Amino acid sequence: MQIIRNAEIAIIKERLKNNPVVAILGARQCGKTTLASQFSSQWPGKVTFFDLENPLDVRRLEEPLLALEGLDGLIVLDEIQRVPELFPVVRVLADRSNKKAKFLILGSASRDLIKQSSESLAGRISYLEMGGFSLALVGAGKEEKLWVRGAFPRSFLAPSEAASYQWRQDFIATFLERDIPQLGFNIPAKSLGRFWQMLAHYHGQIFNASEIGKSLGVSDHTAQRYLDLLSGTFMIRQLRAWHYNTKKRIIKRPKIYFRDTGILHALFSLENKKDVFNHPKLGASWEGFALEETIKAIGLKDNEAFFWGVHTSAELDLLFQRKGRLYGIEVKYAQAPGFAKSMATAFDELNLTHLWVIYPGKKIYKLNQTTTVLPISEIAQLKL
Ligand SMILES: Nc1ncnc2c1ncn2[C@@H]1O[C@H](COP(=O)(O)OP(=O)(O)OP(=O)(O)O)[C@@H](O)[C@H]1O
Ligand SMILES: [Mg+2]
Repeated sequence: MQIIRNAEIAIIKERLKNNPVVAILGARQCGKTTLASQFSSQWPGKVTFFDLENPLDVRRLEEPLLALEGLDGLIVLDEIQRVPELFPVVRVLADRSNKKAKFLILGSASRDLIKQSSESLAGRISYLEMGGFSLALVGAGKEEKLWVRGAFPRSFLAPSEAASYQWRQDFIATFLERDIPQLGFNIPAKSLGRFWQMLAHYHGQIFNASEIGKSLGVSDHTAQRYLDLLSGTFMIRQLRAWHYNTKKRIIKRPKIYFRDTGILHALFSLENKKDVFNHPKLGASWEGFALEETIKAIGLKDNEAFFWGVHTSAELDLLFQRKGRLYGIEVKYAQAPGFAKSMATAFDELNLTHLWVIYPGKKIYKLNQTTTVLPISEIAQLKL
């Protein structure tokens, strides 16, 4: 059974109107190829698909300019991180005056990891970052399942909890043993695996490279490099610290979150819902999930999302700007969150326009004029 990703299809359609090239970037197995084929089936003209993991398709592109310049309609280049040399060719074709072809490029590494793309296609390309399923897509009532199993389609849709867990364990192994080396990184799977596992304990906390490095017996530099690799492959979110217009002594290091709680649970060996509920990191796990879904619901890009923290312990889980105003989000794994002193400090210091407190309950209520408690299941209401 396929879930049709209409929201993303509409975005691609819109962006291809204004750009010759659209790139969809996202984690391995999050559904990029499926989305591209859902989109292609609605495309009114001709579609040509190249899968750069398929040796036959790679051979078809041995002379890329010759192979591509005669094509019109939509050209899909899947797994672009395998052949980044194609970017300059796409540039030449995108700059032709006849505009007879549009390009849809898919990849499972970020722009930082495939540097050539941003450099050669600047001004012609629009990037769309995608994740697995979102709450909006799977529908109300599925929050808990999405949290426990995570958002990867195969994990979420697996016929049983055991099958979902097994899929995630296999995903982790393949990621370490195959995907990372294929990206050109020569890192022992065991070391990166241990690092990843260690990070699970830091989910939702400030990243301290020297502390983690020390406990693994690697340098700060190596710990930072591993983190950047897991961020660049969309496994970890690094939430940057907000450091503007505030007087207090603030925290500057990033916070880290697992983008997918299913992977977090697998690294903790939590096989099912019961295991998750019995684990001491239950609250941190849920709060990370709520934060990620909030970011998806608002549509915040990586560079638009911040946290705010001061050394005297006041803090805000998420801070973002819209139309020049500042908004805050707190995520609380609690039955009936109330107004906390730290929230008052955040209002004072940052001049927030509104604060939402996201929680797992059912009722919407106000704590004051500018603070609203909102159930995760109502997150769609957060559209600004
Ligand atoms: N919208 C969807 N509905 C149902 N199943 C889906 C959906 N999207 C993806 N899947 C399933 O998830 C798996 C991975 O999907 P897909 O191959 O599209 O991901 P991908 O991001 O292209 O992965 P890779 O990076 O490994 O190429 C497939 O088995 C696919 O059938
Ligand atoms: Mg694919």
